[in-house]
Amino acid sequence: MIVATASVKGGVGKSVTAIHLAAFLQLHAPTLLVDGDSTRSALQWAKPGLLPFRVCDERQGIKLTREFEHTVIDTPGGLAQEEVENLAKGCDLLVVPTTPNALAFRPVIEMALGLPSNFKILLTFCDGRSKLATEQARRAITASGLPLFKAQIPKFSAAFEQASTQGVVVSQVKNSYGIVAWQAYKEIGEELISEQV
Ligand SMILES: Nc1ncnc2c1ncn2[C@@H]1O[C@H](COP(=O)(O)OP(=O)(O)O)[C@@H](O)[C@H]1O
Ligand SMILES: [Mg+2]
Repeated sequence: MIVATASVKGGVGKSVTAIHLAAFLQLHAPTLLVDGDSTRSALQWAKPGLLPFRVCDERQGIKLTREFEHTVIDTPGGLAQEEVENLAKGCDLLVVPTTPNALAFRPVIEMALGLPSNFKILLTFCDGRSKLATEQARRAITASGLPLFKAQIPKFSAAFEQASTQGVVVSQVKNSYGIVAWQAYKEIGEELISEQV
């Protein structure tokens, strides 16, 4: 399966999502993460050599992808509409993360309305203290007729910060929220696999 994470927005959890979906897919079959962002956040995360899957840049990825059952592609923030459309055409499923903030999800809805059908929006940074905002985002996205993952990713800044600093998957940090965050990505991964035709 070829999965990509992309958005017209930056800082919405694309790289974190790419890393954790790759970790999930690796539990099923060999998985490659292609870091297509010139800031190389995924490659930096992988530097300590502790991630359970291979990470490479987009140039190496062209050839390497043949050796893996699953490929996850991480992309830069602020892509133009046309670039996101082309990415969707080039993968099996495009995961479009967005935070539940109206300023974030409105442009995403706008963009997603122009995409081919193989994408799904993912709510990230869902703050347990503002459940209403998350519910409003969920309603606005579904009311627009757009596909949305049933599961969502909680906002656990310390756990993800520790994971990126240590170069590990969030389930491995010494922070009780790490397991909860991983559980959310596992649910997303399961949704991803169950819908694969
Ligand atoms: N669910 C989350 N809760 C808290 N912090 C998060 C979450 N997802 C990502 N982050 C943090 O937010 C920052 C941006 O995430 P990142 O995945 O790099 O976004 P993008 O790739 O869209 O720019 C990073 O510091 C990351 O550790
Ligand atoms: Mg990124």
